[in-house]
Amino acid sequence: MRLESKVAIITGAGQGIGEAYARRFAREGATVVVADVNEEKGRAVATSLGAPHVFERVDVSSEADTERVARAVAARFGRIDVLVNNAAIFYGIDHQDQSFTYLKKIFDVNYFGTWLMSRAVFPIMRKGGGGSVINQSSSAAYMHPEMPMANQDTDPLPSFHYSLTKASINAMTHFMAGNVGRFGIRVNAIAPGPTMTDATKTGVPQEILQLIIQFQMAIHRPLEPEDLTGTAVWLASDDSAMVTGQVIPVDGGMIMLG
Ligand code: NAI
Repeated sequence: MRLESKVAIITGAGQGIGEAYARRFAREGATVVVADVNEEKGRAVATSLGAPHVFERVDVSSEADTERVARAVAARFGRIDVLVNNAAIFYGIDHQDQSFTYLKKIFDVNYFGTWLMSRAVFPIMRKGGGGSVINQSSSAAYMHPEMPMANQDTDPLPSFHYSLTKASINAMTHFMAGNVGRFGIRVNAIAPGPTMTDATKTGVPQEILQLIIQFQMAIHRPLEPEDLTGTAVWLASDDSAMVTGQVIPVDGGMIMLG
């Protein structure tokens, strides 16, 4: 077991990739805090994991929520070693809505949520001698997938909402890593390629998925959520003690091929 005695908060762990992270981290000996805005799904995952794992309801875009959860976890377990900033608006995202209002909504969760959760746990990690923050980027950070979806008549400039939040996560990862390394805190990101969660199955058209798999990936298959968990465990573990500020693509060679 590679994460024994570590306490890990995983946001967005009520389904999809976050759930896979939670299950693998628990198998590796971590105490997992399943943190999600969806109470029903998050609680179900925590219950199926059993003690000592717990559920905490959090809207990562709420300053008060993020601070409450960090305090509650510290009070209950005495420390926070790992934060996985996985929560995002992805399931049901509206690629057609390129308005400023929607851009801000996506940023509130996907970008500011990551910043708020990180800021809430940093003092606790620092007190405990260090920690590992793992941000969730995307291969979408390197592309402009929303561009063709914009209506050129009504949207003179598309918002690029999802891709822009993920590209910004990469920048945030570098800035955070540079600032908290002196406290023993490492900050890295994982950039997954297309992963077969419900969000992808329902939100990405089959023909686009097939084109990506055939022509944009060196390994011609989509990822399963479990394909991402080994990298997350490595980043959470002391095996990566000198790795910080990195965005690691786990994408079957998609970003490499451009
Ligand atoms: P998903 O949409 O299925 O799961 C996201 C989870 O975050 C859900 O449990 C949801 O309830 C939670 N969440 C949403 N808003 C929240 C908020 N304000 N506060 C707390 N929790 C909130 O997404 P999926 O497919 O599991 O992806 C997980 C992460 O991986 C996301 O960051 C996504 O952008 C990223 N990603 C996904 C890829 C894919 O192909 N599925 C590819 C690359 C990146």
